[in-house]
Amino acid sequence: MQIDTHSQLLQMVLMIICVCNRINCRSVREAVDAGARSPKAVQAHHGCKFNCGKCSQSIGEMISEQMDRCVPSLPILAAE
Ligand code: FES
Repeated sequence: MQIDTHSQLLQMVLMIICVCNRINCRSVREAVDAGARSPKAVQAHHGCKFNCGKCSQSIGEMISEQMDRCVPSLPILAAE
């Protein structure tokens, strides 16, 4: 991948969630789409294990956000 501008470099750097294992936002979403429901499962999806563990909370928040987006709206039932 060639980086042409400073903003492209900055965007790439900002996307990294796990520095130890080079897991970025897209990789986290990909793992959640494949069924990962915990930070440990996200790491396992990519064949990694936690090293320092500093990314655990951020990965957990990303999982929650993505799951919230996937919850279908419930039908409204009229009460009698
Ligand atoms: S930042 Fe993810 S294990 Fe260290």
